[in-house]
Amino acid sequence: MENSKLWGGRFKEGAAKILDTFNASLPFDKKLYLQDILGSKAHSSMLERCGILSKEEKEAIHKGLDSIKKEIENGEFIFKLSDEDIHMAIESRLTELIGNAGKKLHTARSRNDQVALDFRLFTLSANYQISSLVLELISTLLDLAKEHTTTIMPGMTHLQHAQPVNFGFIMCAYTCMFVRDFERLTSSYKRNNFSPLGSAALAGTPYAIDRFYTAEALGFEAPTLNATDSVSDRDFALDFLYDLSMLSMHISRLAEELVLWSSYEFRFITLSDSYSTGSSIMPQKKNPDVPELLRGKSGRMYGNLFRLLTVLKGLPLAYNKDTQEDKEAVFDSFENMEICLQILKDLLKTMQINKDKMQEACKKGHLCATDLADFLVSHCNIPFREAHHITGKAVSYAESIGKDLSELSIEELCKVDSAIPKEAHSALSLENSMNSRNSYGGTSTKSTLAQIESLESWLSLATIAHHKNQRKMEF
Ligand code: ARG
Repeated sequence: MENSKLWGGRFKEGAAKILDTFNASLPFDKKLYLQDILGSKAHSSMLERCGILSKEEKEAIHKGLDSIKKEIENGEFIFKLSDEDIHMAIESRLTELIGNAGKKLHTARSRNDQVALDFRLFTLSANYQISSLVLELISTLLDLAKEHTTTIMPGMTHLQHAQPVNFGFIMCAYTCMFVRDFERLTSSYKRNNFSPLGSAALAGTPYAIDRFYTAEALGFEAPTLNATDSVSDRDFALDFLYDLSMLSMHISRLAEELVLWSSYEFRFITLSDSYSTGSSIMPQKKNPDVPELLRGKSGRMYGNLFRLLTVLKGLPLAYNKDTQEDKEAVFDSFENMEICLQILKDLLKTMQINKDKMQEACKKGHLCATDLADFLVSHCNIPFREAHHITGKAVSYAESIGKDLSELSIEELCKVDSAIPKEAHSALSLENSMNSRNSYGGTSTKSTLAQIESLESWLSLATIAHHKNQRKMEF
């Protein structure tokens, strides 16, 4: 029996049936159909410009590819596992549709540079889409920040009450994380925006092709430099998986706060009914499944990063079939991150902020203790160590009468130590305490507003720069 594969010429026997399944990537790489068609259009246009294909052949190829695109999008395309992958599935269909010209498309190209191109185009477009969603998330966080620059809540360290901060300031802290995520994605995009097309199998091609033309037509900065590196490189996918892992770690930290804040112990926020779930047994329950899932997704993101790192480790140059295992990790992380970002944004937009609960919580944990010590240092010329000690006595006294430091009357406070003047009582106000932290980057309302202002100007510049990365590929 002859081998009927596109590559079957040198084979006397057909492949074992089980190999159709084992060898094939078609069930998952059909997601790359658009990139494959665009790459083939650019490649055939280039072949024509370089005199390798005639104008008629190129036009037939483009027409054939357009109808294949329609067939796929209308669900009429017949995917045959025996075609192995999306590249061969499209090429065989093209030959069925247009005959001989279809067989010429693969001149000066190999599936090795073809898959490297398709996968890179996919990853860059996924990067673009995730970056757009990160910008939307940042804008949502900034809206919350603007609304809550005077909403006082307990700032924590070690999950213990530490010092009063405002909720807007905390929203700015998360915004800073997502700004770094966006910049990380942008730098990955720039670093990887180079075209491997024309590298052929591993060593380039004897045809006089123009790699600069295809690179430009497909929206790349330039062609990649070395053919062997180009067909074996999957750093672009790893960069993306790492960027998403870091992003998911930040999402997971915010999600953890949302879980805590929505619990009875905190009640700082109430999640909207549309983003909460119930329990099948306990009728009273309203569960934070959504932030929990957002938190849990990071396991999958890190898993995908490690999956690909492990596949690539120790691979000799150049292309190896192992790399076929690269795509699902990226598809999975991308699709999950896309939905996480949409949901997180809506969750933030619809949750209720319970200012009174935050304020009430500030009355526990002696949040203004550092302020009292600072007051004694700055107004009474008491060395910090001693001021720390006197304040400790005040805390212990407040506890002994079942009060928070901020609830002591002037008389009670002055009774603690003769070194404490009446004026020190002002240091125990939560608002004064929060607003006294006016250092650059501090939590005072003024400083928070300044942070919001710089984050907003960053956002408008980043949005303009981001839109420039949208690929324009018209053929
Ligand atoms: N399906 C393959 C992959 O995803 C395409 C490249 C195959 N190249 C080859 N020489 N077998 O990696």
